[in-house]
Amino acid sequence: MKSILLIGGAGYVGSVLSSHLLKLGYQVHVLDNFVYDNQFAVQQFLGDPDYKITFGDFCDKQVLSKASNGVTDVIILGGLVGDPITKKFPEESARINEKGVRDCMDFFKDKLIDKLIFISTCSNYGLIGEDELANEEFALNPLSLYAKAKVSAEKYLMSLKGSANYTGVVLRFATAFGLSPRMRFDLSVSEFVRDVYFGNELLVYDEHTWRPYCHVRDFSRLISIVLDADNDKVDFEVFNAGGEKNNFTKKMIVDEIVKFVPDGKVKYGQNGGDPRNYKVDFRKVKQILDFEPHYSVSDGIKELVMSFDMGFYSDCLDDMDKYGNYALKI
Ligand SMILES: NC(=O)c1ccc[n+]([C@@H]2O[C@H](COP(=O)([O-])OP(=O)(O)OC[C@H]3O[C@@H](n4cnc5c(N)ncnc54)[C@H](O)[C@@H]3O)[C@@H](O)[C@H]2O)c1
Repeated sequence: MKSILLIGGAGYVGSVLSSHLLKLGYQVHVLDNFVYDNQFAVQQFLGDPDYKITFGDFCDKQVLSKASNGVTDVIILGGLVGDPITKKFPEESARINEKGVRDCMDFFKDKLIDKLIFISTCSNYGLIGEDELANEEFALNPLSLYAKAKVSAEKYLMSLKGSANYTGVVLRFATAFGLSPRMRFDLSVSEFVRDVYFGNELLVYDEHTWRPYCHVRDFSRLISIVLDADNDKVDFEVFNAGGEKNNFTKKMIVDEIVKFVPDGKVKYGQNGGDPRNYKVDFRKVKQILDFEPHYSVSDGIKELVMSFDMGFYSDCLDDMDKYGNYALKI
C-alpha cells in the first residue's frame, strides 16, 4: 500500500487532500508544525489507523527523517503561503520556502521514494499580456517574495533530474477555493463571498484582472491522478493545475456572487497594489493526465453561501487569524 508524506498536510489544501487519499485507500502521513494554530484541521483524522501525524518543522532533518520512515511518495505543500505573510516575515520565509524546500528535495534524493510532487503556483506568471495565455513554457515573472521562492524551488527540483532517485513533478496550482477543515478567507473567492454575505461593502481593486481558480477537491483529485500516473508521463514535468473554465476576472467572480447574494454591496477601485494579471493555459494537464476540474467558481460560491446560511464560520470576521495566513503562532 502506498504511504504518502504530506509536508504541510494540516493546511487548507492538505486537510482536504488527506481525506481524499484516505478514501482512496492510501496511508497518509502528515508532517506539520501548525504555524497558524491550525491543529484543529487534523482532529477528524486522529485515530484512523491509516493516518499518522508528526509534529515538527520540515526544515529540521531529524524531524524529516522521522516523518519519512516507510513513506513511498512525498508531496511538498508546506511553507509560508501567500504574498502578505511572506512579505511580513521575509527571513522566516527564506528559511522555509527557499532553503527548507531545497534541503527537503535533497534529503529524498537517495531515498526509496517513487514520486516527489512540489506544489507551486500560477502566480509565477505574474503579469502577462492581455491576449496571452500562459502555458508551462511561458516566461515566468514572479512579482512577490512568495512566487520568487516558488520559481527558485521549481528550478532546483528540475536541476535534480538525473541525480535524484525519485520522479519529480511540479504542479502550478491556480488560486484555490472551496470548503476545507482549515478554511482560508484570505483567498479571493472566499474573501469576496464572506464580505458580500455579511453585508460589508466589498472593495474590489482592478476588477478586470484575470486569474485562474480551482476547487481544493479538484486539486486533491489531480494529486491522486499524478500519484497513479506512469512515471514516464510525469517525470520532471511541470503542469499548470486547473481548468480553462475557471479563468476568471475579479468582476466575473463578483457577478457570480451577486446571483446568490443579490443585495450585496460592491465598490470598484483602481491600482490596488497587486498587479498580477494572468490567464492560464491548462491544455497540458488535460491532454497528458486527462484532468479537468469538476467544480466551477459558481459551485464554490454556492457551497460557501450554504455554509454561512447554516451558521458555519459565524466567527470568521471576529477571529480573522483563525481563517487565514495572517500571523505566525510559533
Ligand atoms: N491555497 C491556494 O490558493 C494556493 C494556490 C497556489 C499554490 N498553493 C500551494 O499549495 C500549498 C498548500 O497551500 P495551502 O493553501 O494549503 O496553505 P496553508 O498555509 O493553509 O498550509 C500550509 C501548511 O504548512 C504548514 N507549515 C508551514 N511551515 C512549516 C514548516 N516549516 N514545517 C512544517 N509545516 C509547516 C502550516 O502549518 C500549514 O499547515 C502551498 O505550497 C501553496 O504554495 C496554494
